[in-house]
Amino acid sequence: MKPDLSVVIGGIKFKNPIWTASGTCGYGEELAEVFDLSRLGGMVTKSITSNPREGHPPPRTTETVSGMLNAIGLANVGVDRFIKEKLKFLERFNTRVIVNVAGAKLQEYVEVCAQLADCPRADMVELNFSCPNVEAGMAIATNASLAEKTVSEVKKVFPRPVIAKLSPNVTDITQIAKACEAGGAEALSLINTLIGMAVDIETFRPRLTNNTGGLSGPAIKPVALAMVHKVYKAVKIPIIGLGGIRNYLDVIEFLLCGARAVQIGTALFVEPETPIKIIRDLEKYLSRKKIENIQELVGQLRIY
Ligand SMILES: Cc1cc2nc3c(=O)[nH]c(=O)nc-3n(C[C@H](O)[C@H](O)[C@H](O)COP(=O)(O)O)c2cc1C
Repeated sequence: MKPDLSVVIGGIKFKNPIWTASGTCGYGEELAEVFDLSRLGGMVTKSITSNPREGHPPPRTTETVSGMLNAIGLANVGVDRFIKEKLKFLERFNTRVIVNVAGAKLQEYVEVCAQLADCPRADMVELNFSCPNVEAGMAIATNASLAEKTVSEVKKVFPRPVIAKLSPNVTDITQIAKACEAGGAEALSLINTLIGMAVDIETFRPRLTNNTGGLSGPAIKPVALAMVHKVYKAVKIPIIGLGGIRNYLDVIEFLLCGARAVQIGTALFVEPETPIKIIRDLEKYLSRKKIENIQELVGQLRIY
């Protein structure tokens, strides 16, 4: 019998727990040339804001040991064009679309989500509370009461599930997680990037024009796993885990630590077909272990 990879989050069924991560494949257009996006459990789109943004000038990415640093600065087409062009493009695929939303302040999140409320193909919104690369971007990420208020205000205007995406750049991630749950979030995703820096010793300049950036890739996986594990013990709502996932082994680690679904980010730059390979390998693993439904693995870590 073929194992069942489907998972339910916020009352919505996903054919498998493999989603793409925001900002690592734009609005899906380029990735659709590599594989059929309908094979994904979900596709999380690049953060959108009320108005289009150019982002920071290049260089805005740089490679590091086992990872990369980026300071894109939320370059995006703005919500109007997103709905007209990008969401329209994604409508043709049989996958869940999770629209990632960012804002300079609370009101911007509410405005963008209110516009998305009328687009049924936006199955869920994911609130980016964690962009380390824009001014004021960290305020909501690090302030529990502001995070709670932002979720609850978005819940008033958006009728489908809301995910809060958490930053690792905080003192205690469980406090923010609990606040988002109290605000009514149906799920949490973690982690976003860790603040980092790289320096060119010839020019004495930082390698990014923003000076600092967000570290992603395999280098951050242990941090992400520890945070998923910690948050899993602190909240009741489902967790979507991400940070450095490259293969099915990584995915299983996240599921055991408490994630019900995962997102693939930086790995797409190395091997765009990573999600497809992972789905295939997960099926093999479950068959071998005689596990009928992948959800049976969630939180099954045997701690000491
Ligand atoms: C180039 C790049 C752009 C990103 N842009 C966004 C973004 O717009 N919104 C967001 O919530 N996260 C963004 N992220 C963070 C990823 O979604 C993810 O949280 C992070 O990279 C960790 O996962 P990974 O190690 O699998 O890449 C970006 C990451 C990268 C590498």
